[in-house]
Amino acid sequence: MSAESGEQVERDVLRAHAEDAFADELAALAAADERPRPPRWKLSPWAVATYLLGGTLPDGTVISPKYIGPRRIVEVAVTTLATDRALLLLGVPGTAKTWVAEHLAAAVCGNSTLLVQGTAGTPEEAIRYGWNYAQLLAHGPSRAAMVAGPVMRAMSRGLLARVEELTRVPADVQDSLITILSEKTLPVPELNDEVRAVRGFNLIATANDRDRGVNELSSALRRRFNTVVLPLPATADAEVEIVSRRVAQLGSGLELPPVAGAEAELRRVVTVFRELRAGLTEDGRTRLKTPSGPLSTAEAISVVTGGLALAAHFGDGVLRSADVAAGILGAVVKDPAADTLVWREYLETAVRPRADWQDFYRACRDADPA
Ligand SMILES: Nc1ncnc2c1ncn2[C@@H]1O[C@H](COP(=O)(O)OP(=O)(O)O)[C@@H](O)[C@H]1O
Ligand SMILES: [Mg+2]
Repeated sequence: MSAESGEQVERDVLRAHAEDAFADELAALAAADERPRPPRWKLSPWAVATYLLGGTLPDGTVISPKYIGPRRIVEVAVTTLATDRALLLLGVPGTAKTWVAEHLAAAVCGNSTLLVQGTAGTPEEAIRYGWNYAQLLAHGPSRAAMVAGPVMRAMSRGLLARVEELTRVPADVQDSLITILSEKTLPVPELNDEVRAVRGFNLIATANDRDRGVNELSSALRRRFNTVVLPLPATADAEVEIVSRRVAQLGSGLELPPVAGAEAELRRVVTVFRELRAGLTEDGRTRLKTPSGPLSTAEAISVVTGGLALAAHFGDGVLRSADVAAGILGAVVKDPAADTLVWREYLETAVRPRADWQDFYRACRDADPA
């Protein structure tokens, strides 16, 4: 492959890593940053927090906010990474745990890719190391025959490793993190050797509140982490801002044609999600049943993005209720037996009486298969 076509592919990847997508902002921050940096950090903790929360640099460069929420949360998360404790981001689905972890890794060490995806089947090799069997059989165990996992690579290079959905990982595999986090070393008994963590190494784990009790962290492991809880957006305005920013980014990435009138429909999607989540209408007058799914901000983003794509490709260029209705129905009705009734009751008691929601009411009735 020629260098040029390599660059073209790099530009055309479907989703760039945070450190590439925001390379300009990171470079501007590094240039403006005069505060002390912990060993091997690309930026000072102050600059990392500014990267996440947004701001304007002395030379006028605007840093876009990645995380919209309490400043203190970001400050505690960033400073934790400069200590000997690892960071655990905890929260219900869609509260930007994965998003924040990726951006933290990008800003701190310029590499957000050393990632272990936690599942019930995550093997110990994913956290420690595996073997190249051809090498192993030909030459026996040696450093050259080892295949380092992401955590081991982060240790030896002084970078941040990420473990997604830590509480889904089987307990015995979780335990392999204890020595790594407490002794900062990874024993390799096969070689009677060890891999020692270089300064700069640390770990960001995420865990889902809803998985509580699945594979609860042992107290020995929990003690190695500082836990930071990411909350749901506190106000409707904050949630509208989060959704509109992300939808605009995704839309430009997908090269969707411009669609008019998105603000009103977007606010309506956020209102529906917040009312159903809270079990109460915005005016506080009507109690509602809550559906089984989390109705996360991330799902609101998908509903609006899907609606925009429909409006752009099949509609008249204006985002209409009919473009979001099917998406909302899909987000609300996760368990048809229970959620269909919850949704219909919401439509009749909360949506129908609203004079300026009649289009939306009809679109939702039409989208309902029954
Ligand atoms: N407070 C927030 N600030 C900025 N973006 C947010 C916020 N909450 C949610 N999001 C957006 O929603 C999505 C959250 O998805 P994700 O990080 O996968 O959630 P989680 O890992 O917590 O389930 C991201 O695309 C992010 O842009
Ligand atoms: Mg996640």
